[in-house]
Amino acid sequence: MLLQPAGPLALLLSTALSLSSSVAATTPNIISRYDRPSPSSPNVIPHTFPESHDNPDSSPSSSPSSFQHRLHRRAPTTNSQFDITFKCPDSSAEQCQWAQNGFERAGAYISSLLTIPTQLKVHATFKSFCKNKPYDECGPTSSILGYAAPAAYFPARPSTAILKAGSPLAASWFLYPQALVKQLRYDTDLQFATFDIVADFNSDIRTWWFKDSPKPITANQTDFDYVITHELTHGLGWDTSLLSFDQVFTDIASKTTPYVAPSVYFHGSSGAPVADAWTFLTSFDALIKDTKGRAVTDYLTPVQSWWGSDAPNGDGEPNGLRSFIASFEASGGPFSAAESLSKAIVAAPKSLRVNQNTSLFTVADDKNVGFEMGSSITHLDYTSYMNSQEFLMVPYDNNGRGTPLMDIVKRNNGTGVYGPESLQIMRSMGWGIGGAPSAIDLTIGKNIQVGDAFSLAIRMEGGVLLGLATGLLTTLVTLV
Ligand SMILES: *[C@@H]1O[C@H](CO)[C@@H](O)[C@H](O)[C@H]1NC(C)=O
Ligand SMILES: *[C@@H]1O[C@H](CO)[C@@H](O)[C@H](O)[C@H]1NC(C)=O
Ligand SMILES: *[C@@H]1O[C@H](CO)[C@@H](O)[C@H](O)[C@H]1NC(C)=O
Repeated sequence: MLLQPAGPLALLLSTALSLSSSVAATTPNIISRYDRPSPSSPNVIPHTFPESHDNPDSSPSSSPSSFQHRLHRRAPTTNSQFDITFKCPDSSAEQCQWAQNGFERAGAYISSLLTIPTQLKVHATFKSFCKNKPYDECGPTSSILGYAAPAAYFPARPSTAILKAGSPLAASWFLYPQALVKQLRYDTDLQFATFDIVADFNSDIRTWWFKDSPKPITANQTDFDYVITHELTHGLGWDTSLLSFDQVFTDIASKTTPYVAPSVYFHGSSGAPVADAWTFLTSFDALIKDTKGRAVTDYLTPVQSWWGSDAPNGDGEPNGLRSFIASFEASGGPFSAAESLSKAIVAAPKSLRVNQNTSLFTVADDKNVGFEMGSSITHLDYTSYMNSQEFLMVPYDNNGRGTPLMDIVKRNNGTGVYGPESLQIMRSMGWGIGGAPSAIDLTIGKNIQVGDAFSLAIRMEGGVLLGLATGLLTTLVTLV
């Protein structure tokens, strides 16, 4: 996990405060960066800094917690644009080396398909998810192979005409993953977080197969390279801001009327959290439509324009989490909008798509389990794509077991880890493909306030941020 050091953040915020109290004419623009505290966190935390044109490299960004274990690091191989900082605390030196080589190969596979002019920085950990517990007592954690996510985002919109008029991405501010922002031209100096992608992988899994192993893969084993390539792709932007509230706020949100809405920022203690703002949708969310062509962004317009302001709680602040959720559920139109989005997602398999034809994973064909946190939305439909060139981004590894990654590619008559539809999704988000640079320029959102996200950033100085332990974003799981 990455920890956000309190010192530099507090310093930066006090700078922002003193600047904002100076005369209006000299007040700099405020840029917000949204950091994900760990790969499994469903929340991002806004972090603000004044626009600066003279010192873009003095990054106050998140840095890894101190390395108490072996740290492996090596320069990227010549054909990979991924610079991987690798931690491997719980495995043998040999396993660690095999796992690290898997990361290097995954980086090379992706680099051969996308145009990545600026090297990407990945913080990767291969560790026991079940530490200090017998494997059998690990519960659901024991089936999670790993997870990865963008470490940071910027609110942005394309400024070039490359996207057709009416493109959903041009319509609003969306969270662009830092990994992508770095590849594009943008209109201001940015303070980047140290890492673009954070990734944790489970060394407890007994069925990993490593390409460097002298033994051939067996029927039950999953190629580590397959899972890493899948997860790094999430870190490049296959990521959503949407949450099913009853699965995250399990004791608070309605179970009788499930609904899906953007994640929320908080401050305050874990006993009395206070909601501050809806999170922006991601640039991936912007591309999603239902089968009739209605965009997810359109469903959510009434939600995002609603913001509660309930009576102050015991601390004298409005929007205590419990009352915020209750008042949203009583809001009428905005709540119905979130409910109808949930219905659209779980109405049937393949009820959402990107790029006209590409169906997202929404509900498993054979079991109506509703919205699946970590699986729904950010993966391709399992039954449609598991035996196709688009196999990489289905939510379960089952169909890939027993076959090395590059043999799965060959089996599907593919030429690389992404098929044409997956590549098209990357391109729609803004990635350059096939050696061509992206033609998209970005305008970075400045002085953005959604709800009172900015005031949250200030209050964070003394506040305690909530870690929501439920809900895992962008997880590839083993079906049991
Ligand atoms: C592999 O799968 C077979 C059949 O399901 C099972 O009997 C065997 O125990 C499995 N082996 C391992 C190592 O999990
Ligand atoms: C969508 O599917 C139709 C029919 O299968 C095909 O003709 C068309 O080219 C596809 N469109 C895209 C954008 O892939
Ligand atoms: C791959 O190509 C072969 C030979 O043309 C064909 O028989 C097979 O069905 C194809 N496989 C897939 C998954 O498209």
